[in-house]
Amino acid sequence: MDFDLREELVAIRDLARDFARDVCAPGAAERDRKEEFPTEPVRKAAELGLMGLLVPEEYGGSGLGNLALCLALIEVNKADASVGVTLSVHNSLCSSCINSWGSEELKRKYLPRLASGELLGAYALSETGSGSDAGSLTCKAVRDGDHYVVTGSKAWITSGDHADVYILFARTGGEGNKGVSAFVVERAWKGLTVGKKEPKLGIRSSSTVQLHFDKCKVPASNLLGELNQGFKVALHTLDGGRIGIACQALGIMEACLDASVRYARERKQFDKSIGEFQAIQWKLAEMKLRIDAARLLIYRAASLRDAKKPHGLEAAEAKLFASQSANWCAKEAVQVHGGAGYCADFPVERYFRDARITEIYEGTTEIQKVVIARHLLRE
Ligand code: CAA
Repeated sequence: MDFDLREELVAIRDLARDFARDVCAPGAAERDRKEEFPTEPVRKAAELGLMGLLVPEEYGGSGLGNLALCLALIEVNKADASVGVTLSVHNSLCSSCINSWGSEELKRKYLPRLASGELLGAYALSETGSGSDAGSLTCKAVRDGDHYVVTGSKAWITSGDHADVYILFARTGGEGNKGVSAFVVERAWKGLTVGKKEPKLGIRSSSTVQLHFDKCKVPASNLLGELNQGFKVALHTLDGGRIGIACQALGIMEACLDASVRYARERKQFDKSIGEFQAIQWKLAEMKLRIDAARLLIYRAASLRDAKKPHGLEAAEAKLFASQSANWCAKEAVQVHGGAGYCADFPVERYFRDARITEIYEGTTEIQKVVIARHLLRE
């Protein structure tokens, strides 16, 4: 593994770092408080090319790949995890899925506009009764001539009320994960309505909603992959998405460490800065260790995905370790800050709330362990 980043990757990281500092960070706390979608940061991200990193050049993107996306996401999440997940879902769950599984016609129709940011993408797999057991979904798509007619509901859809295009998973066959198919669906289509918006603990300016389909007609040509093979489309896509969430966790960890170092230097107790106490030093050292280890796991998983080599195990390891570490770092960052860390005046309060979701969405901590254990037992 090459530890030196190529020039173009360094350029993307630096561009994302400036964008995070200048555009995402300034309003992050206020957007979080008001549960306000980050419209301007997303618009600016599009302008900078951060919405087309996984779209090949022939379809209007930069095609820089998963490692480039990771470098950008880490920087963005360090400033605002709500912008981070919006960009992660758009790139890794929507555009990437169409690029990997769509027909030439679908790629030409959607990818250029997703890459430019004219369209925002989302991913509709979960339902109120089907979360970790994703293969038990009940939203139905029934063939009717050259269309499918979709009826049912989806839940926990990141960006669902702002997205223009969804990757929808619906039941087209018998029970279980063998009867699921994937489609590209547009929000403007008749029969599709946005439902309840979830009031959340963290990532409050990212919106999370339900979707309802009432005899919504989807062209048969919008099928992704083969009929009844959509569960594999879902899991292959999630392998990439999980690397994105690991980046979110890493960005939060880095923000926690920066804030804690700053505070440890400034805050004085017993006539010295608290950074002079070993109890605080050990927390900072442990945070740094987890950050570096998570980064290596993320780089490995992203590089394997870019090389089109098996990476499901490595993606699960990266997400599992990074998300658990983010929660540990956020808890310790609050502890370093004491009472100040418990108040919204200091950003670690937001990091603590934002970190929590990284162990839940795109496969819980427990599901990542299942994925890892199944690889071990299969081998
Ligand atoms: N890529 C492609 N195919 C895969 C795969 C992968 N990574 N992993 C498994 N498959 C294939 C298997 O080989 C199998 O194929 P065959 O039947 O031909 O052998 C098929 O998929 C089914 O696999 P399993 O039998 O292992 O499936 P399962 O029903 O036991 O489920 C699971 C496995 C790991 C529990 C899976 O359901 C899972 O990951 N659940 C979590 C779902 C999840 O992550 N949801 C996140 C919601 S999306 C979200 O959060 C988005 C957002 O907005 C932020």
